[in-house]
Amino acid sequence: MKRRKRSPSGAVSRRDFLRGAGAAVSAVSGGLLVAEPSGATPAPGSAGVVGPGEVPVTLRINGKEHRLKIEPRVTLLDALRNRLDLTGAKKVCDRATCGACTVIIDGHPVYSCTTLAIDVEGQHITTIEGLAPEDQLHPVMAAFVEHDAQQCGFCTPGFVMACKAFLDKYPNPTLEDVKQGLSGNLCRCGTYAGIRQVALRAKA
Ligand code: FES
Ligand code: FES
Repeated sequence: MKRRKRSPSGAVSRRDFLRGAGAAVSAVSGGLLVAEPSGATPAPGSAGVVGPGEVPVTLRINGKEHRLKIEPRVTLLDALRNRLDLTGAKKVCDRATCGACTVIIDGHPVYSCTTLAIDVEGQHITTIEGLAPEDQLHPVMAAFVEHDAQQCGFCTPGFVMACKAFLDKYPNPTLEDVKQGLSGNLCRCGTYAGIRQVALRAKA
């Protein structure tokens, strides 16, 4: 059995954390998506095949239910940005590398660019819009401003979501924990020093 790599203080790295959120992994077989939106196991003999046309999907986002008709191949990121006008999660690499599209699903940070919307039906999805519903900055957002932890800002929503999920799970991280815990997000402007201060500040 493979063991997860842990930091000295026992915190799981961000990449491990993301891997652990594999419940949202899609299955594509021979060009057909095989899925069971309700999460139930298909009965023997019933393939549970949906699509390729549009199917009804209900997404629970920031505490609200959204009913959509989408093709099963639509990613959560595209559903958020193109169908629900929730554009906080950014499409940068579109291939699970940069973390700009990070959302939180059932407490786990997840790359929404490589998660099919149909696979997360019924799960609790939080986007960056859900962190500040009343136009009041979430403490993690405020800390980004205070520590000047952004330049162009393209990576920032993803980092905020990654920080929130990480701190919810590990409220007293060491610097090493923070480095590992946020290692699934990249910043081309190199604002890592400020972002790490944000995560460490939660301790105080
Ligand atoms: S856009 Fe999803 S990881 Fe880069
Ligand atoms: S602030 Fe520009 S990519 Fe991070």
